[in-house]
Amino acid sequence: MTLCAALALVGFAAQAQDVKGSAQAGQGKVWLCIGCHAIPDYRADYPLVYKVPMIGGQNAAYIAGSLAAYKKGERKHPTMRAIAASLSDQDMADIGEYYAAQTTSSPKNPLK
Ligand code: HEC
Repeated sequence: MTLCAALALVGFAAQAQDVKGSAQAGQGKVWLCIGCHAIPDYRADYPLVYKVPMIGGQNAAYIAGSLAAYKKGERKHPTMRAIAASLSDQDMADIGEYYAAQTTSSPKNPLK
């Protein structure tokens, strides 16, 4: 059982490495996300309606992995599933790199 889990993890890591993300490419792909995962102050626009996680500054592989999990249906949030379904592996990698590079002093995304 443990061995299975380990093999699955290795498989996942190998797969994730095939696609190299680019923060620059990601900048043009996050316009979909900014409405909810607002970047400048890391707060959602509708904090009373949704509890939206902060994704700026998180690990790129974690972000891409979460998006893949929504796409595959392993994570269930309906809006995130619909959005992730429209993203390619390359998009997810780019978006992961983009968000990972964000800090509180990052300039606002001009495409916002
Ligand atoms: C309509 C609002 C909305 C939009 C648009 C949206 N998200 Fe989300 N996102 C959410 C909510 C709400 C959650 C928490 C869902 C859950 O609990 O599974 C979430 C969760 C996530 C997570 C998981 C975070 C974690 O800590 O586990 C990632 C990664 C993410 N979104 C990335 C994106 C990206 C990238 C885009 C654009 C392509 C995007 N989201 C667009 C509302 C949104």
